Amino acid sequence: MAKPEPRYVCQACGAGHPRWGGRCEACGAWNTIIEEAPREATPKGLGGRRGRGLEFVGLTGEAAALVRRTTGIAEFDRVTGGGLVPGSALLIGGDPGIGKSTLLLQVAAALACRCAYVSGEESIEQVRLRARRLGVTGAAVELAAATNLRDILASLDRPEAPEAVVIDSIQTMYVDSLDSAPGTVAQVRASAAELIRLAKRRGFTLFLVGHVTKEGLIAGPRVLEHMVDTVLYFEGERGHHFRILRAVKNRFGPTDEIGVFEMTAGGLVEVANPSALFLAERRGNASGTAVFAGIEGTRPLLVEIQALLSPSALGTPRRAVVGWDSGRLAMVMAVLEARCGLALAGNDVYLNVAGGLRITEPAADLAVAAALVSSLRDVPAPERAVIYGEIGLSGEVRAVSQGDQRLKEAAKLGFTEALVPPRRGRPAPPADNLKVHEIAHLQDLVDLLAGAASPRRGPRGPGERRA
Ligand code: TYD
Ligand code: MG
Repeated sequence: MAKPEPRYVCQACGAGHPRWGGRCEACGAWNTIIEEAPREATPKGLGGRRGRGLEFVGLTGEAAALVRRTTGIAEFDRVTGGGLVPGSALLIGGDPGIGKSTLLLQVAAALACRCAYVSGEESIEQVRLRARRLGVTGAAVELAAATNLRDILASLDRPEAPEAVVIDSIQTMYVDSLDSAPGTVAQVRASAAELIRLAKRRGFTLFLVGHVTKEGLIAGPRVLEHMVDTVLYFEGERGHHFRILRAVKNRFGPTDEIGVFEMTAGGLVEVANPSALFLAERRGNASGTAVFAGIEGTRPLLVEIQALLSPSALGTPRRAVVGWDSGRLAMVMAVLEARCGLALAGNDVYLNVAGGLRITEPAADLAVAAALVSSLRDVPAPERAVIYGEIGLSGEVRAVSQGDQRLKEAAKLGFTEALVPPRRGRPAPPADNLKVHEIAHLQDLVDLLAGAASPRRGPRGPGERRA
């Protein structure tokens, strides 16, 4: 029989190639293709034995009620959709050093069930040291340092198996029947598949820790994301102590839910009121700042958006964005130039979301525009005002979801004004002490910031240039 051809597999996206190359044609990543041991040749067609007939059933039926195991760490439980489901697999991704091991050790200790923690990166001593630092040495966690999957499976495949298992990290695990090195797509995929299969069979909750590459992908395999039930990302900026746990996929709960933690000397501490935390260092009426009333998952979150414009000495001015989408910034700037006649082009522009949060909502457009205009004109935005609204290409301000919740949070934190999109129908009166300005067009915002809001003369067509 012919020897099977070697396979070349991209470690970023998992695509297979017939030969080695410097760049993966499937995902465009450089230097990610490596040779992996060939898969066993599968026989053409299925051949041989006939399969058993399936027994199809209707959509209704008795399903056992989902019992969930909660940790009592409210921020974590909410992100998982109200607790852990037995037999499910969770992937926790994040940059090295962000605090994944810390979080999972705290979770393992907080679970009221038997829990095993398998560390492939650290020695028993190191994990014990961390447990002491976190003050959880008394918890019923079974600890092991191992990387060979055969041993791990053998120790977990028993009737009195633990009810939760942490594998830290999946990139260090290896299946000894495969030739590839640990951390390669083949190894990670095979290890995860075996562990998930066992978790389903034995009914334990499986946590897989996955490191993230510079590009923000879980190293190696996108494939992992398809295999597990829940994907959580643990994120935060290096220099900040806030950490955000975000659900990006969840078969047992909502996605885009976030949990906010603070990394302290004694481990991760829940942050019950993140808005207050993100605004804690806000300096009143500095120009170039605006408070965005956002929604993360089901909870409102106020954050400060900061912009700095300065005349550029470069042919192509700098655009530096932290915490927001740079394409979206380019769009907001283009609309400000084209529809409001502002001259931004010759400036270096720096945009920053304070506190290390990453915002993905288009509703932040209006707050970004306010920060930009405020910096350009060097006039502070109203000090106790929150802002939200999506900007269209003709400069119109569009309604966004959950306006009432945003306003309620603003009122709760002592804000007195809100700049919002036109509210349809008969809007419920917001809290008494909150004055709501409806901004229909970006020009209204520019006027308002200049303190020269003039009464509007009749309706204006969307394409009309206003300067
Ligand atoms: P770790 O959980 O090891 O990160 P990961 O598993 O994602 O690689 O976290 C490491 C960082 O967290 C390290 O820089 C030290 C810091 N840390 C604290 O600040 N306080 C603590 O109580 C602990 C345990 C870690
Ligand atoms: Mg770790």
